[in-house]
This record gives sequence, C-alpha cells and structure tokens, in this order.
Amino acid sequence: MKIVVCGLGYVGVTVAACMLRKGAMVVGVDVNPQKVEIANAGRSPVKEPGVEETFAKARAENRLTAAKTLGSTLADADVVVACVGTPSCEDGSLQLSYVSSVSEEIGRAVRQRSPECRPLLCVFRSTMLPGTMETVVMPKLSAAAGEPPGQRYEPVYNPEFMRESTAIADYFNPPKIVVGERFPGAAQDLYGIYDGIDAPVFKVPFAVAEMVKYVDNYFHALKVSFANEVGRLALSCAVNPADVTRIFLSDTKLNVSPYYLRPGNAFGGSCLPKDVRALGAFGRKNGMDVPLLQSVIASNTAHKSFIARLVVAHAPKGTRILQMGLTFKPDTDDLRESPLVELAATLLEQGYELSLFEPDLKPEQLVGANLAFADLHLARLPELLVTDFRRAAARADLILLGKPMSGVKLPSDKRFLNLYRF
Ligand SMILES: NC(=O)c1ccc[n+]([C@@H]2O[C@H](COP(=O)([O-])OP(=O)(O)OC[C@H]3O[C@@H](n4cnc5c(N)ncnc54)[C@H](O)[C@@H]3O)[C@@H](O)[C@H]2O)c1
Repeated sequence: MKIVVCGLGYVGVTVAACMLRKGAMVVGVDVNPQKVEIANAGRSPVKEPGVEETFAKARAENRLTAAKTLGSTLADADVVVACVGTPSCEDGSLQLSYVSSVSEEIGRAVRQRSPECRPLLCVFRSTMLPGTMETVVMPKLSAAAGEPPGQRYEPVYNPEFMRESTAIADYFNPPKIVVGERFPGAAQDLYGIYDGIDAPVFKVPFAVAEMVKYVDNYFHALKVSFANEVGRLALSCAVNPADVTRIFLSDTKLNVSPYYLRPGNAFGGSCLPKDVRALGAFGRKNGMDVPLLQSVIASNTAHKSFIARLVVAHAPKGTRILQMGLTFKPDTDDLRESPLVELAATLLEQGYELSLFEPDLKPEQLVGANLAFADLHLARLPELLVTDFRRAAARADLILLGKPMSGVKLPSDKRFLNLYRF
C-alpha cells in the first residue's frame, strides 16, 4: 500500500507514522521546505511522541520520502490523505484556502494516473465545517481532475480525533472511526487502512462527519469552560471546587452520561429554570463572571422560540392543531415553567385553532401552583383540554408530539411533528 500524506503538521506526521507502522510506503508532502528536509532526514517536523523513531526506521528501510509538491507521487498511490491546516480568519470564520489548494493539486495529479489503477482514495482529515466537502473540495477536485468522482478517484471525509502528545496511541485506539462518503460503500472501507483497529465505525454522509468533529471539539471546550465556571463559583463562596467536582463526576447516571444530551424540547419544570436563574444571580452577587452559566436561560428561551417557529412553518394559517403533551415531562402533572404550556399560549396568540391532549393532567387535579401557572400563562387550558384522543385527532390537520406518550395509538393518516426528538 502506498499512501501520500499532504501536510506534515501534527495530524499529517501522525497519519504518516501510523501508516508506516502498519507497513505502508509513505510519501509526505508539505509546502514548507524545512519540514520536507527534516522528514527526509528521518526526523519529525513536530514534536509528537513516537513519530521520530518511526520516521528514522522507515527512512532506513526506504519506506518514507518527503517532497515539496505532489509531482507524480499519486501516479501509483492507493490513498492520499489531506491534513492541511484550517486556521481561523480574523473574523473567526474558517480559512479554507489550504484545503482548496490541496484539492486542486490532488485533482490535477489524478489526471496522471493510469485508467487501469483502482480509484485513488482522497481522504480529507482537516477539520472543516458541514458542507465543505460538497461545496469546496468536490468542485475543486472534479474541476482539476477533469471528471467527476467514481472512476479515477473517490473523495472521503475522515475526521481525526487524536490529541496532540498521545496522537499515535489515539490513532490505534480511537473512540470511534467516522467515515463521510458520497453514498453508502463509496469509501470502500478506506482500502483497509483501519483494519485491526477496534473501534465503532460510523459511515455517514459528508456533512454528518464534518459536523461530528465540530460537535466533539465544541463539547470538549464547553466541558472545560463549565468546569472552570463551576470552580470559580465554588471559590467565590469558599467551597472546595475539588470536593464538588469529585461528587459531580461520580454521577454517571445523570451527569456524565448521554442523559439530557439529545436535541428535543426546551428544559422546564419547577427546578431547572429556577435553579439556573438562582446560580447565575448568585454568581453576579459574588462578583463572579460566569458568562457560560449565565447564558443558559437565554439559550433555552431561544430554543422555545425555535420550536414555535418550527410549528408555524409546518402549519399554514387555519391549520387545526392538536398538541399532545402539556406538562414538562411524562408521568407528571407539573405544569410549572413547562415549555409546552408556553408553546400552546404562543400558538393561541398566533390564531390557531388548538386542542390539547394531556393524559397526565386530570382537570379536577388542576390546583395549587399548577393552577396558578395555568391561569397566568394559559387561561383557556380547561376549555382546550380534550380527553377523547381519537376524536380530537380526527379533527386535527397537524398533531404535535410534545413528549413521549405511551399507550396512545397515532393515526397513520395525519401529519405529525415531533418536538421532543428531532
Ligand atoms: N492538531 C491537532 O491535534 C488536530 C486534531 C484533529 C484535527 N486537526 C485538524 O487537522 C488539520 C491539520 O492540523 P495540524 O495541527 O496538523 O495543522 P498544521 O498547521 O500543524 O499543519 C498543516 C500543514 O499543512 C501544510 N500545507 C498547507 N498547504 C499545503 C499543501 N497545499 N500541500 C501540502 N502541505 C500543505 C502546512 O505547511 C503545514 O505544515 C486542521 O484542520 C486541524 O484543525 C488537528
């Protein structure tokens, strides 16, 4: 197997070293002549444990060379891996000039390949925003190659999940392998470059793979910022941050778990909104700047508006809507700060004919804080509540699934909008 790696930065040298360890022939290409010289001397252009020894051994075995341009290196290659940088522009947007250039260079080099060769796998590992493969890489590749993908080359997006300093170990023991491809099977299992690596493999459309990489990085950054803000708040009230963190992290049921991590409805109920507001206010009182924690309510409000707009977009004027669910989660009659109460109120304001189906709420039990909240935010609740689901569904043009509801058979001839999982 011959593999050409474009970009001898942290990702590129790791890919090169790992492919060399798997016995491949590797050509490293970088526009920086110093990096090329260093690699050709059997050394690593960046500090990454394990790379230097691997390069030195491979040079001695004549399995590693480096060059400033692709030249004819792709003529007999099986795979080219593009690991060029995607730095920030001044305004924070992503700079794609290196990705764009390398796509063109690879496309041009494809022309030199014999039509008998199997398609060159053009694997992009740079971190790129959703849509980049479709709108930048593929057009550049195919314009330069003079033909669409399929016969002579096949573009693949394969994000890198390594961490600098443990990159080689991460490569051989990744949390997952994500392969973005043009259609199922197009990546041809990357000609086996991941064979022998035990990790879940996700084969998905390009944009999913592109987005996953960002979501992962964003979440890591979010976790660091969350932990630091919690630490600052703890210090502001003489609580030991390590004590709080130890207990917080011990909870792998609700805290460090998939729980609460799927897109759906906004949060609500009698605890989360009130407690988030209180901790934010506490931070302000203690003179602690915790912008992440203080932005959570605004984020939730934005999500409630998004859900309302989503419904309106699916419901032209005059649509008769049946909303299933009103309490803030299944198996409780708690209406306090329920996003579904707010949604119903918004839909009424917008002039829709609305019915509400909520088996968790018995009208005769609408008392106390629940009654107060309903009176304040949805005074027409008692008159809109229906108990005969089948009849209400038959009359409706659109049914909103506000929360999971067991034991309710949904009619197959109606339009639905799922608001708790999308
Ligand atoms: N560093 C990481 O830990 C890491 C992890 C995962 C993903 N990524 C992503 O991988 C990509 C590369 O990251 P990096 O840290 O290795 O970047 P880097 O800046 O260290 O290296 C990029 C290399 O590409 C070279 N280059 C630019 N244009 C070229 C071209 N046309 N042909 C050949 N070489 C060219 C540059 O000279 C440079 O040496 C980025 O998109 C980054 O976001 C990085």
